[in-house]
Amino acid sequence: MNAVITAVGGYVPPSILDNKKISEKVETSEEWIEKRSGIQQRRIAGADTAVSDLASSAINNLIESYEVDPNEIEALILATATPDHMLAPAAAMVCEKSNLKNAFGLDVNAACSGFLYALELAGSMIESGRYKKIIVAGADKMSSIVDYEDRSTCILFGDGAGAVLLEASESHFGLMKSKLHTDGSGTSSLLVPAGGSKMPTGMQSLLHRNHYIKQDGSYVFRKAVAAMNSVSREVLTNNGFTTGDIDWVIPHQANLRIIEAVGLDLGIDKSKIKVNIQKYGNTTSATIPLCLWDFKDDFTAGQNLLITTFGAGFSWGAACIKWGVLRNRKSSCKTIQEQENELLMY
Ligand code: UT7
Repeated sequence: MNAVITAVGGYVPPSILDNKKISEKVETSEEWIEKRSGIQQRRIAGADTAVSDLASSAINNLIESYEVDPNEIEALILATATPDHMLAPAAAMVCEKSNLKNAFGLDVNAACSGFLYALELAGSMIESGRYKKIIVAGADKMSSIVDYEDRSTCILFGDGAGAVLLEASESHFGLMKSKLHTDGSGTSSLLVPAGGSKMPTGMQSLLHRNHYIKQDGSYVFRKAVAAMNSVSREVLTNNGFTTGDIDWVIPHQANLRIIEAVGLDLGIDKSKIKVNIQKYGNTTSATIPLCLWDFKDDFTAGQNLLITTFGAGFSWGAACIKWGVLRNRKSSCKTIQEQENELLMY
């Protein structure tokens, strides 16, 4: 049994935080941000919007666009690093908000690699024959953990969510072999120190701004390029592919220079590499599904996609997908363009 992506949904909040606004908050410039990261703007969710709202908006977009019956969904795997609460799981709120009455739900936190890990879990569940329809979502409200006084991180991150429906199929399309890694070597280079069991939030942690994300950017950058390159090669070999067999690359969107360096190292032409970082920044668990949502109309059945990602932990991985056929799309649903027309300035 193969696990095929048959529907894709996405949601980004309407408010835009552009480079001009960031350069009014911290010592940087619009040019520096775009040149060093490729980012022009990011979407920021309002104070009353939690990750479960972002995720359920993306799932509801999927359900409505492809006329999916929510009662048929057996499981929801939600990748997120910014759940609504430490406890209960955000997936529980999403099951309620998206009316997934017959699904069990769980959160997966593997930072920027979370969506790929969740896809691997869901794919294995379907390939085992025990499940037929699973929604895999990636959602993050990075603005809830970003320090808007730290110019080395606040330029990078944004909020958003994406989702895919995985269905059992006897066709030859679907998820192929993947390779995932986690080694713990990068814990101190990229983390939110406080708010967990090691350093519960308290006056001291708040005073030292330890409830915000901290990173050693240039170290993480170098590690990301090397890891995404090597794991991509590993997964191509495991699937019996060369780079020439790949029609599209869907890289984690952390920095345009990382994406370009990986493309160059792999020898894959820029025109095959999907990039939307300029619009959304790094949305952590949501970058891969947001790319699938943004670019789904470019993919045709039988094409080979290479997904590659890297994030905190360190955690990294790559997977190949033989793209299948999406369900018929309802014409009355909001397109990306219509969503973009509803923009507000943050
Ligand atoms: O999702 C996975 C995890 N995250 C990533 O993959 C992010 C990886 N890292 C990056 O994207 C990049 O490292 C950054 C965009 C964060 C920084 O770019 P960089 O080219 O690596 O800069 P750098 O950290 O090496 O810093 C170079 C200089 C420093 O000044 P000095 O020491 O040379 O005087 C920084 O203080 O740039 C300075 N700098 C800035 N200048 C203007 C750092 N941030 C800024 C800024 N505006 N926003």
